Amino acid sequence: MPKLDLSNYEGGREPALVKHSLLETYLPDLVYRVGRTWDSFAYVDGFAGPWKTQDPTHADSSFAIAVDALRQAQVGLRNVHGREIHVTCILVEQNNVAFAELERFASRETTANFEVHAIHGEFINTIPAIDQIAKGGSRDPFKFVLLDPTGWAQVPMEKLKSFLNERSSEVLVTLMIRDINRFLGEEDRAESYRQLFGRPGVLERLRNTSEDRAEQAVLEYSQSLKELCNFKHVSAAVVLEPNKESIRYFLVYGTKHHRGIEVFKAAEMKAAMIQDDVRHEAHIQKTRQPDLAFDSDPPKSRKALALQSRYAEIARKKVVALLAANTNPAGVEYKDLFCEAMFFPLVTPSDLVGWLEALEPGVEIQLAGLRTRRKPKPSEDFRAVVINPKVLAQA
Ligand SMILES: C[S@@+](CC[C@H](N)C(=O)[O-])C[C@H]1O[C@@H](n2cnc3c(N)ncnc32)[C@H](O)[C@@H]1O
Repeated sequence: MPKLDLSNYEGGREPALVKHSLLETYLPDLVYRVGRTWDSFAYVDGFAGPWKTQDPTHADSSFAIAVDALRQAQVGLRNVHGREIHVTCILVEQNNVAFAELERFASRETTANFEVHAIHGEFINTIPAIDQIAKGGSRDPFKFVLLDPTGWAQVPMEKLKSFLNERSSEVLVTLMIRDINRFLGEEDRAESYRQLFGRPGVLERLRNTSEDRAEQAVLEYSQSLKELCNFKHVSAAVVLEPNKESIRYFLVYGTKHHRGIEVFKAAEMKAAMIQDDVRHEAHIQKTRQPDLAFDSDPPKSRKALALQSRYAEIARKKVVALLAANTNPAGVEYKDLFCEAMFFPLVTPSDLVGWLEALEPGVEIQLAGLRTRRKPKPSEDFRAVVINPKVLAQA
């Protein structure tokens, strides 16, 4: 595995590298996917920065990484598939100094059929301006929205919901779980929590839960994205502190199509590997001791391992429950099992296949009504059919 160049991300910014790697992997695949049918794509970064960038051209910012990835995908789509897609990037920033930089970047990067706009102001107040630019020239774009605020009060659900509710939109939100957890009991912040989740009773449930609060907050937020913004499927990535065994934030992703979950999961798995590398490098730099035992293969942190096995067990139980609740004799669509399980960070498609294999022969994988040994894919008509329900009771 190549050695990571952490130089732009040292000193506490390492988690941003994980987020940036996820964007860099996910966006081109998204453009290839939607570019076959859509003529126009809008990328919205509601909290663009630049924020603590080290590179003079801001190559270590979410907006520069996204613009670069989108431009390459636009060219690839043209060259490989003969498809032309118009790309509009809309970057919002509130801070005056950062905005001046952002504006310079936007004017440098705009070319024919690839527009980059910078908007100055509070994201939530600029939504009408964003929509106007995205839909300029009576375009009907597929919209991907990145919301990476420094806190949680800047993204009230009530104002987000009509912006994200459109048929063709996706979102990736940073959920600063460490801070959300820390101030949950403070009465003067209660209203900001209510606005973040946008549904009655969430704050009270989180305050009173006996379960892991961070996990419950992510589940509640995901439910808000589903119910209020009409995202059919939600998934999440977990980003850890570089030098501690704890979570820095979650990246919560919403999509209207199961294919989005497939593509996001692939990007999340790659970002999780980069996270292992990042933490390993940070450890070496802190201790100045190369970890000889793990020189070629960086170890997972204790926290990552614990989260992985916990999320896998919750996801496995959800899959079993879906199978048990099914009344359709044709079985449960594999894509439904896939989306249910792949909600959880660090859970992989191979985990799901393994759980289903462990249920054989009580549960059978079928393709077009016939038993198959082929590896199931969510994009084809694979189904899981319960032959012997007893196997589920014991699972
Ligand atoms: C976490 S940083 C963004 C980092 C960037 N996404 C990246 O990964 O390179 C958040 C940015 O949002 C800006 N900001 C804070 N509140 C804002 C608001 N209400 N509307 C727009 N921008 C805001 C901050 O000035 C800061 O530049």
